Amino acid sequence: MKNRTARWMTGLATAALLSAGTVAFAQGGAASRPDTSATLNKPPRPKNEAEAKVLAVIDEMTQDRSQRYLSVSPEDGRLFRQLTEATGAKRVVEVGTSTGYSGLWFALALRSTGGKLVTHELDPGRARIARDHFKKAGVDDLVTVIEGDAHETVKQHKEPIDILFLDADKEGYIDYLQKLLPLVRPGGLILAHNMKSPRPDPRYIEAITANPALDTSFVLMEGSGVGVTLKKR
Ligand SMILES: C[S@@+](CC[C@H](N)C(=O)[O-])C[C@H]1O[C@@H](n2cnc3c(N)ncnc32)[C@H](O)[C@@H]1O
Repeated sequence: MKNRTARWMTGLATAALLSAGTVAFAQGGAASRPDTSATLNKPPRPKNEAEAKVLAVIDEMTQDRSQRYLSVSPEDGRLFRQLTEATGAKRVVEVGTSTGYSGLWFALALRSTGGKLVTHELDPGRARIARDHFKKAGVDDLVTVIEGDAHETVKQHKEPIDILFLDADKEGYIDYLQKLLPLVRPGGLILAHNMKSPRPDPRYIEAITANPALDTSFVLMEGSGVGVTLKKR
């Protein structure tokens, strides 16, 4: 009797384990996996040798975090490339170069739009590494790195800007916006990193959401978050 009870208990436990396993399998199976961008995305494929050269450096930096400093994510970078190429941007201004990771994504698009990137960096060591990355990727002819405090150096811009990308000191976004918004062409974009963390000065959020001349979406908020602001025509 004791043996029969023990066998029954073992059978019950096995059935419970099997059914739990079936549920786990069903939940983890491809059919029921949620269609998040992480499950659907595949790495970008190079269309030609020039793209392959840029993507090789991007890939190396993506794999080796020591080559990046506080850079955007690959998903963010990919979006910047898409927006730059889709809008046919000819002149991109970046504030906060770091070691050039986001700059390489912009450069990937600028090679085909025939445009240029001007990027600002305070730290001379990071500016040097960025230049090395741009050279290795074969896009150094498209990129100008301006060293120094961007609150001062952005004053040298006089020409219209198609895309402005803010990714330096978060409390400085409002100052960069005030100085450069007049140069952003109607139909141009202001992209801003870290809309979720670390958040910029709330005055920046107010400036891009309350101005009737602008229209802003917040995207990729599952990461650090990107503000995409259109300067209306
Ligand atoms: C978040 S990192 C930029 C990451 C880069 N956009 C990327 O994704 O590869 C911010 C950079 O802004 C620079 N920075 C901070 N304050 C600055 C300032 N006032 N002027 C210029 N650069 C500044 C920092 O030295 C740092 O390298």
